[in-house]
Amino acid sequence: MKKVLLSFSGGLDTSVCIKLLREKYDMDVTTLTLNLGYIDLEKEKKKALEYGATEAFTLEVMDEFANDYIFPYIRAGRMYEDKYPLATALGRPLIAKYLVEYARKLGIQAVAHGCTGKGNDQIRLDISIGILAPGLDIVAPVRELNLNREWEMEYAREHQMDFAHIKSGYSLDENIWGRSLECGIIEDLWQEPLPEMFKWTKGPADAPDEPVYIEIDFEQGIPVALDGVKYSGVRLIDRLNEIGGAHGVGRIDHVENYVIGLKSRELYESPAATILLAAHQALEEITLAKMALGFKRNIAYEYAKLVYDGLYFTRHKEDLDAYLASNQKTVAGTARVKLHKGNLTIVGRKSPHSLYSREMATYDKEDKFQHSYAKGFIELYGFQFTGK
Ligand code: ARG
Repeated sequence: MKKVLLSFSGGLDTSVCIKLLREKYDMDVTTLTLNLGYIDLEKEKKKALEYGATEAFTLEVMDEFANDYIFPYIRAGRMYEDKYPLATALGRPLIAKYLVEYARKLGIQAVAHGCTGKGNDQIRLDISIGILAPGLDIVAPVRELNLNREWEMEYAREHQMDFAHIKSGYSLDENIWGRSLECGIIEDLWQEPLPEMFKWTKGPADAPDEPVYIEIDFEQGIPVALDGVKYSGVRLIDRLNEIGGAHGVGRIDHVENYVIGLKSRELYESPAATILLAAHQALEEITLAKMALGFKRNIAYEYAKLVYDGLYFTRHKEDLDAYLASNQKTVAGTARVKLHKGNLTIVGRKSPHSLYSREMATYDKEDKFQHSYAKGFIELYGFQFTGK
């Protein structure tokens, strides 16, 4: 029997895949489950073996995910289509990396995933695997057998798999950077999300009446401390998910464009990402010169698009990282953030590298700005339009 290494999350698609790979592909299945946040590895391992995997490997990768994938992205700091903080998209290259590593280590020639033939995740995984291990075979049962969620639910029921709790077939992906939900009733663009679809965030009406104020320190474009206390990446993100979620911050309803241009509606919950990207931007505003800030926004646009499009392990990404590392050297200091009933407001910012000069900016009598320079500047600047 040919061996295959399946990326197993414990969700409907990958669970069904364990059985299908045995039944329809006649393959001997080994699974690999990674924890990128909020996954009970022991539970998933048990499930994999129960559903028919010969061997089930698990691996804790939260720190690597936070430090090597999320933090470099924070330096870019731009959401995909200015709305989606890329939680799922950032996780896929890391999953591909470990699939390849384990397949090599175990001497397995084929890897498998549970992606459909429609979404972005298949692109991210297949391209990343193709770049990292060109010779490896990729098996994608849900895509190849053209399965839909109803068929999978039925199949799961027939095989006594425990998916009765999945109501009306949402597809869920979760890691420390965010929770992504698609399918089901939100495919109707007019349908307001139901309260029970949110798990990490309170509705604004249920959030505390009193606001909370938090302070986040950054060094070189990367968050290092919360309220003056240094935290590891994972702890910091986890804390902010908790605080932001309690105050109803981080809900996103986005009709996004897939890599192929197909429009799809997604619900995201990303409290930490929402807070960190806003705080980061507040510090960029005072530490980057006008030109650097403007140009960098284009790099950040490119970076977010590249992550979304599954081109993570490319030279192009390395080039963008190199630019950002240099651009972000002075993005340091503290942002003060107020969270209140679903709203996030930046209420303070300070930096040792601040370019803001109060005595130049002020309209009070302390003003040091040379007003007399303005007339000549405007004449030269306007010459091409006024002709004199
Ligand atoms: N649309 C988002 C993305 O492409 C989220 C996908 C969620 N994936 C999933 N298997 N539920 O990044």
